[in-house]
Amino acid sequence: MACQLLKGKRGIIFGALNTNSIAWTVAEYCFKEGATFTLTNTPVAIRLGNTHDLAEASKTIVIPADATNTEDLKILYEKSIEFLGGKIDFVLHSIGMSKNVLKNREYHELDYTDFLKTLDISAVSLHKLMQTAYQNDYLNEFASVITLSYIGAHRVFEGYSDMSHAKALLESIVRNFGYHYGKARNVRINAVSQSPAYSTASKAVAGFDKMFDFSNQMSPLGNATAQDCAGLCVALFSDLTTKLTMQTIYNDGGFSNVGMSSDVLLKFT
Ligand code: NAI
Repeated sequence: MACQLLKGKRGIIFGALNTNSIAWTVAEYCFKEGATFTLTNTPVAIRLGNTHDLAEASKTIVIPADATNTEDLKILYEKSIEFLGGKIDFVLHSIGMSKNVLKNREYHELDYTDFLKTLDISAVSLHKLMQTAYQNDYLNEFASVITLSYIGAHRVFEGYSDMSHAKALLESIVRNFGYHYGKARNVRINAVSQSPAYSTASKAVAGFDKMFDFSNQMSPLGNATAQDCAGLCVALFSDLTTKLTMQTIYNDGGFSNVGMSSDVLLKFT
């Protein structure tokens, strides 16, 4: 049930590649809650995905940008501000990519060029989009920025490989930029650490099906879905959470605090 929680808010949503993207569902929820926003992704992703369908449904435009390129980001903000009619109130950074994961390389066989690319795309891009906004004053006071993380930032999940380092760095950028942007202009920055959900990015992780089932059976509430994530993002983008910043918020059905569940234990009896 929509309550128009985001009425009058202007946003930018990164990462809605297709209907399985978490960002896709977040965009649908934001639209229902009265927000206006632009959509963005890399030119290749826009060509191969269905972002234009989502744009049509949410009465907006798609602006191509590589999130590792600060020139692209500047153009993205400026075009968004022009289209939306004012500075930005919320940003969803829903970006992840690792060639080491895609190529199923063992952790002790990483390609370092690809490792650096993983960090740049999946973590440093958040710093780039925050710094571009900070230097050019593209965000309104109390704007809310969300990035998506995973508990692999803190614990070892074998197939997660160099993405675990990207997520650890990402959460550190959330804390550090959250501090600086908070002091300067009351801008909030948080990470949502999300349960596994089926998407193009997650399918690349070796053994994803089993990781999904494992965390589902470990979590007292079961895995959080993309819809659960979208609901949380709406709350974090809204004015109900203006003092919540620099946090990693676990949207995982309780998984992060469970050592062993009876469902999983049963498999060993
Ligand atoms: P997805 O594959 O739909 O989204 C990843 C997006 O990143 C794609 O739209 C892709 O085009 C975009 N991207 C890649 N390189 C880019 C670049 N250089 N510039 C701009 N965009 C770029 O997959 P999903 O699952 O929706 O992933 C979104 C975020 O959620 C990622 O950060 C992922 O790590 C995170 N996450 C996903 C979980 C899952 O199980 N699906 C669990 C926890 C976190």
